[in-house]
Amino acid sequence: MASRFPLLFLSSLLVVASCWCVEGGTLDSNDPLIRQVVDHGDGAIAGDNELLNADHHFSIFKSKFSKSYASQEEHDHRFSVFKANLRRAIRHQKLDPSAVHGVTQFSDLTPREFRNRFLGINRRLRLPSDAREAPVLPTNDLPKDFDWRDHGAVTAVKNQGSCGSCWSFSTTGALEGANYLATGKLVSLSEQQLVECDHECDPEDKNSCDSGCNGGLMNSAFEYTLKAGGLMREEDYPYTGTDRGTCKFDKSKVVAKVANFSVVSLDEDQIAANLVKNGPLAVAINAVFMQTYVGGVSCPYICSKRLDHGVLLVGYGEAGYAPIRLKEKPYWIIKNSWGENWGENGYYNICRGRNICGVDSMVSTVAAVSS
Ligand SMILES: *[C@@H]1O[C@H](CO)[C@@H](O)[C@H](O)[C@H]1NC(C)=O
Repeated sequence: MASRFPLLFLSSLLVVASCWCVEGGTLDSNDPLIRQVVDHGDGAIAGDNELLNADHHFSIFKSKFSKSYASQEEHDHRFSVFKANLRRAIRHQKLDPSAVHGVTQFSDLTPREFRNRFLGINRRLRLPSDAREAPVLPTNDLPKDFDWRDHGAVTAVKNQGSCGSCWSFSTTGALEGANYLATGKLVSLSEQQLVECDHECDPEDKNSCDSGCNGGLMNSAFEYTLKAGGLMREEDYPYTGTDRGTCKFDKSKVVAKVANFSVVSLDEDQIAANLVKNGPLAVAINAVFMQTYVGGVSCPYICSKRLDHGVLLVGYGEAGYAPIRLKEKPYWIIKNSWGENWGENGYYNICRGRNICGVDSMVSTVAAVSS
């Protein structure tokens, strides 16, 4: 961990410095977008004039992410969206100088398309009937840094594809960790079971239900898992990225069972204490800065708290970065479900301290049955 951050720190400074060169949206050879392209080792040389245009960025983007478009019209439309996203990444960079923002696999999608296809939280804050509030834990002996990846409780980064099923990945991630703590075995669990079989609704709002690629909620998914008897293995019920199939749940193949689940208060020390004691936590977040996130610690000056994405909180660090304005600040380590090529090998770092992007507002912990 420690060795990773001096680099981030350095790149943050470069970005801060270069931000002021891109006023008005023109691209400068030192800007973060270009550096990101260069950093990915495709042989381009920073400062080369041909890097100065969006055209060139778009070609690299298309080849890097194997994009092809059905018609010239579609291509031209995607190019205009891409240019708008370059400008947006530059704006995000100014608002969030301790992270690096740039071109990602989502750079040809409008914010609405991105929300519809890659997020998927049915935003509601009521609790299913079996949820309770997590008991208050002592917080005096918490480690300064903690990462469940170092303790074997986290599976490899997965990819939800073009399906608003983030909630199912957040749910399996939390139960994978809890199951590891309860049984000593790390088993990858089936999101597809949740996508195809879980239609759990809010007890007070029958129109708000877990609904495959159209979104859902982790607490409802824990409720479903409790009632259904558990989740199958990933291999036994593999992910397809669509919700058009029928439910293939086989109760005899359950490998992880929910004992109980609870909602953690907004207090960040309680969140940390629950994380350390109970394993990775299911959390919701506003993902607007994640569309352009490339690395570093995200700490935007302004970020909506409207929750639209489900992810997994796996750890925290005490002092991840030290850009000029913010000094040393603690941050959360978040596992995402957009593959390993997104962000920091599939992970997102977001600063702690003021419920940034709503990250502290909907946190749940689950316990697995041990046997
Ligand atoms: C949840 O279940 C675990 C494992 O069975 C148990 O140790 C724990 O006390 C339960 N928690 C609550 C809040 O009931």
